[in-house]
Amino acid sequence: MRPTVNGVLKYGMTVPSLAEADVFYRTFGLSPVEGARTLGFACEGAATEQVELLEARHKRIAYVSFGVDEGRLTEFGRDLESRGVVLKDPPRSIEAPGLWLQDPDGMWVNLREARPDPGRPLPVVEMNVGTAKPRVDVAAWRNMPEKAVPNRLGHVLLYVSDLAASERFYSGLGFRLSDRTGQILSFWHARPGDHHTFGFVQSTHPGLHHSSWEVGSLDMLMVGRELMDQKGHPGWGLGRHGLGSNLFTYFPDPWGSWIEYFIDIDQISENWEPHDYDAPTSMWGPRMPQGFVVNSESTERIEL
Ligand SMILES: [Fe+2]
Repeated sequence: MRPTVNGVLKYGMTVPSLAEADVFYRTFGLSPVEGARTLGFACEGAATEQVELLEARHKRIAYVSFGVDEGRLTEFGRDLESRGVVLKDPPRSIEAPGLWLQDPDGMWVNLREARPDPGRPLPVVEMNVGTAKPRVDVAAWRNMPEKAVPNRLGHVLLYVSDLAASERFYSGLGFRLSDRTGQILSFWHARPGDHHTFGFVQSTHPGLHHSSWEVGSLDMLMVGRELMDQKGHPGWGLGRHGLGSNLFTYFPDPWGSWIEYFIDIDQISENWEPHDYDAPTSMWGPRMPQGFVVNSESTERIEL
């Protein structure tokens, strides 16, 4: 069987101020990665860096790293070359193992042998909903988390200049369509699990729309929302998405992209059939903020 990617490991972006990025990502609840050459962040307990920040004049998505199953990378490279994909030398300022190529928008793509970090084992959250009443003699209010501690990088959504071209390219890496909304938006997965781990929004030029991080409970999601609000990052949410159905809160980052806490995303298997739905972005909750789908990323090319 042709090798395929197994998911999203990490993304890299340039920002005008690493100091500002440091404060923002820490406030969101990610942990700085010791010894990172640039500025790295990951979920608490994650084995490897999940965000890399590089300083440059503008904020811009720089690369996305995708996992390839152990022992399959060389074969993957040969397979890509046989289909006309050009493998490149790594960008000079990035030290990461594996294969490097560029997507149709010129964004760097890194393939390396690893699996997405599954996150820490989390305690079961017992909610007395409907006919199931598992929480007995335990007062929920006495077990509130103090802050949001993201557990797992769930998905990355990119603005792309040509949705169809990006879909062809990433299908070639092994992504499968989860659901779409016409030629505006599409969600993709590499393996059974979350409804989407990657996706695209049609735009005039490439960019990072948002990254999304799973937290352990609805309480944690809302405690995190309140803390972000107090620190000057008022969010959008709580809401429940259409495609993917996850409960969400989003926060604008200092450079015009968004970052999301989520829980309760639809899980899909090999049997999932993709559909084209004109689904609402949110099924309920506060109105979508202006600028939620405005790509403010610079079009200036940044050499890495
Ligand atoms: Fe999301």
